[in-house]
Amino acid sequence: MARVTGPATEDTPRWLQPWSLDEGSDRARSLFAQEFGGEPGTVVSAPGRITVIGDHTDYSRGLALATVTAHRTFVAARRRDDEAIRVVNAQGDALRGPGRRWEGTLSSLEPGDQGWPSRPAGIVWALTERGYPATGLDIAIDSCLPSRAGLGSAASVIAAVGLACEAAWGLALDNEEGTIELAEAGWEAESAFVGFPGGRLDSHAVLRCREGGAALLDFATAPPTVTHYPWYFGDYGLRLLVIDTGSRRPDWAEAYARRSRDSAQAAAALGVPSLRDLATSGDALARVASLADDTLRRRAHHIVTEDERVRETIAALGGLGPAHDRFSEIGTLMLESHRSLRADYDASTPELDLAVDTAFGAGALGARLAGAGFGGCAVALARSTAVPAVADEVDAMLFAKGFARPQFLLV
Ligand code: GLA
Repeated sequence: MARVTGPATEDTPRWLQPWSLDEGSDRARSLFAQEFGGEPGTVVSAPGRITVIGDHTDYSRGLALATVTAHRTFVAARRRDDEAIRVVNAQGDALRGPGRRWEGTLSSLEPGDQGWPSRPAGIVWALTERGYPATGLDIAIDSCLPSRAGLGSAASVIAAVGLACEAAWGLALDNEEGTIELAEAGWEAESAFVGFPGGRLDSHAVLRCREGGAALLDFATAPPTVTHYPWYFGDYGLRLLVIDTGSRRPDWAEAYARRSRDSAQAAAALGVPSLRDLATSGDALARVASLADDTLRRRAHHIVTEDERVRETIAALGGLGPAHDRFSEIGTLMLESHRSLRADYDASTPELDLAVDTAFGAGALGARLAGAGFGGCAVALARSTAVPAVADEVDAMLFAKGFARPQFLLV
């Protein structure tokens, strides 16, 4: 591909470096001291989620392969003797909601989407609903994870505040079952309190996936099972390059909710409890093709084929063939996943398509939109040596076509 001339003002791609654990903790601690005075009783953090492959499958009881970012949400908190919940969020001014600060009480937490405060309030509410003995809390939140990027930033805030509740209230949930319970409570915070009809991918990935590892989440059961795989990519000189396009369709939440309804309707029309049940039958694609409604047929086609691509990716990760062939195959599966999310699921945008095509043209093995789509980020699998050129090309191409300049993260 011909090199596109970069923008005149700033000619290098914008890299978003993660904070170290110490830096993030110090930031949350000093925000806490500044806002509430004194020392927090606990400082915790949670990462963001990157779907390597397997998007829009969780609410059809399907499969996803995910990992987490080095970029994290940090929370400093201290229990109170009354029932006040006071929250300061360093990113609050840039998010929907009341600005940096929000206050409520344990007994007045009402489900509903009030912007960012509904996430910390939601997890406090969900844990209280589960019967845990709650007290008031002072909470300070700071994050280096981009929000609205398709990296599970809302789930990351919920998880970090959940971990802070766990420590501040002494809930003894710091074991595997406890982590699963926190993840379920996180999903309840988002679905029952905020009212976003998302699946369980984000809340379970941010708490149960490991940095430097990939995890297969299987949503056939609720809570999902998680199987860990070592991340061989680094050993073979490969990296995941996350490209945050910085854009989100304004109606993305409605678009997501429509997709979730479409998949339930497609399953009902095919007489199965969920599309996952179809994926295990040999004639799944023929049955999908029999759907009369074009939209439902395409939605079901994406979900059934995406589950299969997750299975093929796992097989390639653990296969015995030459590494180059296996990673090229994963790259191809990522490209197919993107095509399916674009053509069957209508979840892409022109910027995401351009980022994916440009990354591939510039030497990435594959790329795809990651997360809900409708804007947000793409993820590319590339050799470390090719990463700078891929980032340069994507940055310059998006700029040349009049889109916002992206930000880049590495995993
Ligand atoms: C959002 C939802 C998840 C999942 C992804 C797409 O992040 O919250 O449940 O459906 O989109 O895979």
